[in-house]
Amino acid sequence: MKALILSGGTGTRLRPFTYSIPKQLVPVANKPVLLHCLENVRAMGVTEVGLIVGGQEEQIRAVVGDGSPLGLEITYIPQHLPLGLAHCVQIARDFLGDDDFVMYLGDNMLIGGTTEAAKAFQEQRPDAALLVTEVPDPRQFGVAEVDAEGRVLALAEKPPHPRSNLALIGVYFFTPAIHEAVAGLRPSARGELEITDAIQRLVEDGRAVSAERFTGYWKDTGNVEDMLDCNRVLLDALRAQGPYAGVDPDSVLTGEVVLGPGAEIIASRVEGPVVVGAGTVIRNSHIGPHTAVGRDCELTGTGISDSIVLEGASIRDVQGIHGSLIGRWADVQAGTSLPRRRLLVGDHSQISLSA
Ligand code: DAU
Repeated sequence: MKALILSGGTGTRLRPFTYSIPKQLVPVANKPVLLHCLENVRAMGVTEVGLIVGGQEEQIRAVVGDGSPLGLEITYIPQHLPLGLAHCVQIARDFLGDDDFVMYLGDNMLIGGTTEAAKAFQEQRPDAALLVTEVPDPRQFGVAEVDAEGRVLALAEKPPHPRSNLALIGVYFFTPAIHEAVAGLRPSARGELEITDAIQRLVEDGRAVSAERFTGYWKDTGNVEDMLDCNRVLLDALRAQGPYAGVDPDSVLTGEVVLGPGAEIIASRVEGPVVVGAGTVIRNSHIGPHTAVGRDCELTGTGISDSIVLEGASIRDVQGIHGSLIGRWADVQAGTSLPRRRLLVGDHSQISLSA
């Protein structure tokens, strides 16, 4: 089985971050979402991966490379415009050949359960196997109508009046039958070639299309709230590996705290779960819980919890930062004490706060 991972698209709901960073590279617990996806695919026993990339291809190449450290062989497949999930399958035709494959949306976080799903697909080999889960508002997702035996009866993409509460959750298994189904599709009302339309064709042609209820953790990380939720869940699984050389005697670490090489904690309190990237310096600050600070950051006189700080950011004299996302090399400072607040700061931004 091969894998097709979708890492193009636009990421409009994560602006301003996605103006400068592909949404699949925003880190949760200090690791880009896309690397979590690649690790899951490797755990399924897959080594050949086609990676769909859009306008921010260079940044993705810089992080993923040829995939060899992950035990993967990556083939980059450029997509010039985000014309839809089924378009991705069309342009990957040469890479996929006549192999079965798993299609995995590169902005979806799934924890637990994907390897079992891959095994079930390989054993039963329906023409398509979809992972689904119950959601409170299915209108934002692809929606499947499924019978008691798990057979898919019909599909709709983001329907205004959903006929079930089962959402498609970003991992699809296909035999080569899908290639015929994506050929000749017409763009949907939102102008995309929809994979749900292609799968609906399989259903109408009498092909076997099954749905499996996913019981692990899943989030489409398309917005900040969901990123922070994933961050919390991954940090909760963190196990400290200390003692650490870079912690001075005036600092107190509680709970699970993981420090990267060369990170320094000076006169600060770090309340786990917290992960701090390599080379980051934290001084006179209170960090955590549920906070991931990337590499080469500088936090001085700062109070921050339940947040993600990307690499190279510096924060000075800002207290009460909560539920925030601070972009790469951003510079945030304040001269005065402020109430608890949420900050969403894009890459390279300079913010000066006052009361
Ligand atoms: O998250 C699950 C949902 O993902 C499913 O329930 C929907 O049926 C499915 O269409 C998809 O909906 P989204 O609106 O969330 O898709 P999004 O545009 O965010 O794209 C998903 C991933 O695929 C993301 O990593 C970007 C990438 N992509 C997307 C398009 C449209 C591409 O690489 N190329 C594209 O043309």
